Amino acid sequence: MVNQMKKNIAIFASGTGSNFQAVAKACQEGIINAWVSLLVCDQPEALVISKAKKLKIEPFVFTVKDYQNKEAYEEAILAQLKGNHVDFVVLAGYMRLVGSTLLEAYPNKIVNIHPSLLPEFPGMNSIKRAFESGVGETGITVHYVDSGIDTGPIIAQRAVRIDENDTLESLEEKMHQVEHELYVEVLKGLCEDKEDEC
Ligand code: GRF
Repeated sequence: MVNQMKKNIAIFASGTGSNFQAVAKACQEGIINAWVSLLVCDQPEALVISKAKKLKIEPFVFTVKDYQNKEAYEEAILAQLKGNHVDFVVLAGYMRLVGSTLLEAYPNKIVNIHPSLLPEFPGMNSIKRAFESGVGETGITVHYVDSGIDTGPIIAQRAVRIDENDTLESLEEKMHQVEHELYVEVLKGLCEDKEDEC
């Protein structure tokens, strides 16, 4: 049965925010049956903040060093999520491991996008490491988030060929394009198919 209720999403991002923008626009255009009520960002200078403002999405920007520990800043995030009635969390280039405070508050309701075909190339600089390793293809993974580094259950993957004449820059560009398409497709599915998913 299609769930007619729009889901309320928070997107967590630390950087440029191209995935944030793709997902937020798809929600605003009605492609994904959800609305983005909040950006959570740990980098006050990140470009994603101005993207959020342009799309009229409220940013919650924090600095880790203002808090005693991970539990304290995650409690502050959680207060924002609860205050905005968020029921699903989308990580889009959020450069921190999600801790138990948030994982326990949102079980199976936090997803991430990673630029490799997991379990290959988890962690940082995945596109560069795949490119330099000489493999013929890499790809994109969307997965649920658990306490590990890019280890949660995989929801969807899409391969991206590395052509002989690709440079790191051209590969990165192809990868980002595929990320934007795949993340929108996956979130569209999660928000429409089953009431208990998104
Ligand atoms: C993306 O490659 C995503 O897969 C990874 O971080 C990058 C974020 O890019 N987790 P952007 O800020 O969405 O442009």
